[in-house]
Amino acid sequence: MDLIQRPRRLRGSENLRKMVRETRMDKSSLIYPLFVKEGTGIEEEIPSMERQFRYSVDRLPFELERLQKAGVNSVMLFGIPDHKDEVGSGAYDPNGIVQKALREAKKQFPDMYYITDVCMCEYTSHGHCGVLCGHDVDNDATLELLAKTAVSHIEAGADMVAPSDMMDGRVRAIREALDANGHYEAPIMSYAVKYASAFYGPFRDAAGSAPSFGDRKSYQMDFHNRREGMKEALTDVEEGADIIMVKPAMSYLDMVSEVSKAVNVPVAAYSVSGEYAMVKAAAKMDWIDEERIMCEMAVSAYRAGAQIYLTYYAKELAKCMDEGRIG
Ligand code: PBG
Repeated sequence: MDLIQRPRRLRGSENLRKMVRETRMDKSSLIYPLFVKEGTGIEEEIPSMERQFRYSVDRLPFELERLQKAGVNSVMLFGIPDHKDEVGSGAYDPNGIVQKALREAKKQFPDMYYITDVCMCEYTSHGHCGVLCGHDVDNDATLELLAKTAVSHIEAGADMVAPSDMMDGRVRAIREALDANGHYEAPIMSYAVKYASAFYGPFRDAAGSAPSFGDRKSYQMDFHNRREGMKEALTDVEEGADIIMVKPAMSYLDMVSEVSKAVNVPVAAYSVSGEYAMVKAAAKMDWIDEERIMCEMAVSAYRAGAQIYLTYYAKELAKCMDEGRIG
C-alpha cells in the first residue's frame, strides 16, 4: 500500500503515546464535592452514592486529610441543615452548617481551597432554590437572600462562592453584595449552564433537597437548548462571573466545548451525582471497568475544553494522574 498518512505510527509505544497526548491535566484542576451535616460523630455513607459520605463538622478533617494526601486541594461544600423553613434562613445564618464547617476546616487545613455552593434548596421547607410566590420561585426576592448567603460564606472563610440556583441576575447581585462588604477579591464560579436534569437524583437523596412539589424547570434549563446555554454563559460573564460552569458534564460536552470557545474565563465541568451513581452501579455488577470508565469520562471533559473538573472521583483520578495513566 502506498500510504503517506499512517496514524498508527504515533501509537506504537507507551512512551510515544504519552508524548503526543493532546489533553494534559493536573490534580490542581480537580474539585471534590463534600457534604457537611449538623451533629457530631457522623460519617454516613450515601445509599445512592456508594463510598461518598455525609460528615459532621468534627469528622470533616479526616476527609480533608485524605484529600490533601491524594493531592486534591479544592473542595465544594454543600450543607445539610437540621431545620428548614419557608425562606431558607439556614443558608445565611452565621452559625449555619456551612459557616461552622468553614471556620473549623480553615483552622485545621488552611491550605485547602474552599468553594461553597450558594443555593437555597437544602434550606427551604419546600425544597425549591429560592423563596416562593404562590407556586413559583420569586426571582428578585431570592437574589437578596443569595447575596446574603454568599457574603456570610466568605465571612466565615470561604475562598470562592458558587451560585447554583439559576435565578436571573444572581451573579450581579452577589458581586455587588461582596464588593459592598469589601470582598473585592472573592471570585464567583457561576453554575451558569445548568440544565434541569435527572442526573441530580442521587444528590437530592444525599442532601435531602428534592422539591416537595413540582420540579425545577422554571429556573434550570431545558436540555433541548444550546443557544440558551450560550446566553446564560455570556450573561454571567457580563455580570462578573470569574469562572463558568457547565453541569452535568457527560451528556453536555457539546456545551463544554462551545462555551469554552466563546468565553474568556476558565470553564468548569461538573460530573454530577447521577453520573457517579451509574458508573458505581454498573461496576458493582461487574459490567464495566470502573477505573477506566472514570478516566475516560474525566479526559472527555478536559478534551472538550474544561479547565476545571468537579467530581466525586477526585481522589481516585488524582491517583491515576500520579501514575501517568491519564494526563
Ligand atoms: C443545588 C445543587 C444541586 C447540585 C449541585 N447544587 C442539586 C439541584 O440543582 O437539584 C447537583 C449536584 C450533583 O448532582 O452532583 N441547587
